[in-house]
Amino acid sequence: MWDTLTQPSDILLCSGPKTGTTWLKALSFAILTRGKFDASTSPLLTTLPHDCIPFLENHVEKIKENRSDLPLLATHLPYSCLPKSIIASNCKIVYIYRNIKDVLVSYYHFVREIAKLSVEDAPFEGAFDDFCQGISYSRPYWDHILEYWKASQEMPERFLFLKYEDLKNDASSYVKRLAEFIGRPFSVEEEKAGVLENIINLCSFNTLSNLEVSKSGSYQADENASLEHRLFFRKAEDGDWENYFTDAMKEKIDKLVDEKMSGTGLVL
Ligand code: A3P
Repeated sequence: MWDTLTQPSDILLCSGPKTGTTWLKALSFAILTRGKFDASTSPLLTTLPHDCIPFLENHVEKIKENRSDLPLLATHLPYSCLPKSIIASNCKIVYIYRNIKDVLVSYYHFVREIAKLSVEDAPFEGAFDDFCQGISYSRPYWDHILEYWKASQEMPERFLFLKYEDLKNDASSYVKRLAEFIGRPFSVEEEKAGVLENIINLCSFNTLSNLEVSKSGSYQADENASLEHRLFFRKAEDGDWENYFTDAMKEKIDKLVDEKMSGTGLVL
């Protein structure tokens, strides 16, 4: 089923849930389609980034039937669950990760909203305990990162690791790096003409979350799950975790991260 899915020229956007996947998809799509569309004509203005770049695990048949010229695919699958053919294809992999505490809060609200539960009915403490036990959609978050990180140590030329917070604090440097890695670097002329800046603005939380398409409609994640578009856009604030974590929770998760991530140089 997966055999012919990826080509060496493909780029696979990989992430754990709630780490900035929607943003990475939007940026990569805008970078690669900038010869065809500008910020006023981009399909991103009317289409959810998840409908522009499908998830492998959910839409494999659709991808096979309508493979476009765009060499972008995405996945939340852990590295160890990627089909061997994808690993063998030698395609490039962009991995986005994010502060673990903000991921947890984001994931909590996402799941709570899908289940249509209020904060009172689904207290944060329960989500915290589950997360620390590694109960999650696609592996414990730390394992998800570690698997990709280990693979990146073996094949550094195939991987670009991006941190959500870095992208936020210095968008132009990191978007340029992304563009170079995916084979469409910005020229000096383009930068002077504001193309880079326009893409950053188009893909910003402020722009995307305020589009009509983001406020209405549902994304068909798979045949059973239909998710309201608005659920992909909440606050996008760094450090929102401080509104949820007690001192004991902070201590527990910091200890866990120290244990799991030691030696990687990755700061969560
Ligand atoms: P919050 O819940 O903290 O607001 P994913 O795309 O992997 O599902 O991650 C969703 C998180 O990214 C949410 O975080 C969401 O608000 C944020 N997000 C969505 N679009 C974004 C954008 N264009 N720029 C920055 N953050 C964005």
